[in-house]
Amino acid sequence: MGIESQIKTLAVEHKAVILAHNYQVPEIQDIADHTGDSLELSRIAAEKVKEEGYGVIVFCGVHFMAESAAILSPESTVLLPDMTAGCPMAEMASPGAVMEMKRRHPRAKVVTYINSTAAVKAVSDVICTSSNAQRIVERIDADEIIFVPDRNLGSYVQRFTTKRIILWDGFCPTHDSFTKEDLDAVKKDHPDSLVMVHPECRPEVVDGADEVLSTGQMVSFVQNTGARSIIVGTDQGMIHRLKKAAPEIDFIPASGSFFCPDMKKIDQYALLESLRQGRHRISIPPEIRDKSRRALDLMLELSR
Ligand code: 13P
Ligand code: SF4
Repeated sequence: MGIESQIKTLAVEHKAVILAHNYQVPEIQDIADHTGDSLELSRIAAEKVKEEGYGVIVFCGVHFMAESAAILSPESTVLLPDMTAGCPMAEMASPGAVMEMKRRHPRAKVVTYINSTAAVKAVSDVICTSSNAQRIVERIDADEIIFVPDRNLGSYVQRFTTKRIILWDGFCPTHDSFTKEDLDAVKKDHPDSLVMVHPECRPEVVDGADEVLSTGQMVSFVQNTGARSIIVGTDQGMIHRLKKAAPEIDFIPASGSFFCPDMKKIDQYALLESLRQGRHRISIPPEIRDKSRRALDLMLELSR
């Protein structure tokens, strides 16, 4: 039996659903039951998994995403096929430092990007993703916001609100290393292409883009645009996803270095072993789970 059939057979045997983030390698995206951005995958973990009777979620993504699935779906076993698949930005904030920031700004509420550890979520008022950050900041009942940990997403949201946003000094190494000069160079080579970038990019890159979108929003956008050529300012894993959604469009990676190494750690062999051996199980201490669940539930409620 080929590896794909083995994965499918084991998934059925274990009542497992395979979720994959849009940045995963093509062969993982293609075998997953659902592929999406952070918000789409959180919604699936919170609702669909229970409704459809799955006992196991195999999460092909990075650690904080599997943690969020485990928080939102406590009755399921959540597996991450490679425990070293992390997000460097999530490690740029700690619960102690967030508490200290809260002490310095007692009137502010903490809005934390989902790219954070469960322990940081537990000391936050509400979570957001790149697709609902503006809405969450607008709807949370505070005029002062401590935005953790992505300074680029936080400053992007500041463009749309009169609320005061206090930025944490975190960033995504993959997105933040793409400069305005890099963008100018690719635009010069493809003058007729539309430019879309992820809001984790630097403000000056955002200024030079036509569209600023989460990865899920990029998929919807390309299905409804008249553009024939698009420069893609985010991880290269997106290109496979976008080509499937809109095969008639020419997608140009904004840079060869737009590559998140952690998102590429899971291959079909790791997925197969994960299903076979029930590894690696995500476990979250109950107190952290309950507190972070409150902040995630508020996100789902406010983003409706
Ligand atoms: P999305 O929620 O837009 O998929 O972003 C997740 C991420 O990690 C981007 O770097
Ligand atoms: Fe984290 Fe950046 Fe990778 Fe997204 S692309 S998972 S923010 S390191």
